[in-house]
Amino acid sequence: MGQMNQTDRIISAGPLPTEEEFAEYSLRPKRLGEYIGQKNVTDNLRIFIEAARMRGEPLDHVLFYGPPGLGKTTLAGIIAHELGVDLRVTSGPAIERAGDLVAILTNLNDKDVLFIDEIHRLNRSVEEVLYSAMEDYAIDFIIGKGPSARSIRMDLGKFTLIGATTRAGSLSAPLRDRFGVVSKFEMYRPEELQLIIERSAEVLGVGVDRQSLVEMALRSRGTPRVANRLLKRVRDFCQVKGRGFIDIGITRETLTSLGIDDKGLEGLDRAILRMIIERFGGGPVGIESIAAAIGEERVTIEDVYEPYLIQAGFLHRTQKGRVASREAYLHLGLAAPEASEEGKQLDFFEEETGV
Ligand code: ADE
Repeated sequence: MGQMNQTDRIISAGPLPTEEEFAEYSLRPKRLGEYIGQKNVTDNLRIFIEAARMRGEPLDHVLFYGPPGLGKTTLAGIIAHELGVDLRVTSGPAIERAGDLVAILTNLNDKDVLFIDEIHRLNRSVEEVLYSAMEDYAIDFIIGKGPSARSIRMDLGKFTLIGATTRAGSLSAPLRDRFGVVSKFEMYRPEELQLIIERSAEVLGVGVDRQSLVEMALRSRGTPRVANRLLKRVRDFCQVKGRGFIDIGITRETLTSLGIDDKGLEGLDRAILRMIIERFGGGPVGIESIAAAIGEERVTIEDVYEPYLIQAGFLHRTQKGRVASREAYLHLGLAAPEASEEGKQLDFFEEETGV
């Protein structure tokens, strides 16, 4: 199959992808066997796909949740490919009215996959259409008004909905309950990111030495999307400097120019930590206060920046707010509070676990 076939089949209700997004498609693996990591998710899906195929039935509806950039869209594409069906891609905010969703649903064939990214952002009236569509593969219309009004039912193809969200907690219970498979995406280990970068470099046709692979993997925040972007920027430096392949010198130069430090933190990550420490005494501080002080939206901080800061151990999320860890002080070269002090603080504020 040519590089572009999968892309050609992606029909989006939203705007056309930007060039950057378009380039990303070609880095995406097409088969389950090529997909690296998320073993808990893929091992189960392999069985469910196989079972659905054996029975000649559609795959049950699937919900993916976890931080952005971990390959949820990529895996949805792979599922459609493995099932041998068409994929439609859209997103919660792109479906403004119930009619928009009806138009998408009525164009689906049996077993097709509909992927809705950011599904927690669907509005109420759209979500209600989805309930009967998911449960009965049908939608109900009211025709006419007053006493002569009647309801007619329109059957749909037996499709599979794959929903993706960065926040499973924001999904309404009726919607969440209609998914037969719910899978959580985890951040990738450096070894897995190394394999992803190695594969992407091969697709892009650029040579890269082992040391650079290790370095890029360690600085990609556990996220393939970040890893692939980083690789592309290093490739730019490599090209302009007239080098034949990516070596550690070029890699380090790029990372320095982009302001990415040895833990993979960028300027805004450090600004968040510095703010909590210098302005709020290390915390606990509410997310709204951090957002206001930094000048970023609360959801951006929660969905994009925090997951990695927490994963890397720089930030704790407590019931009273966010607390900078001892590692955060040390990383920024600031005097850290006594270890026992921090421990007490965390015990007192009870660290939140889970999503
Ligand atoms: N690109 C994005 N996510 C990936 C993954 N998990 N495996 C391989 N390539 C990817």
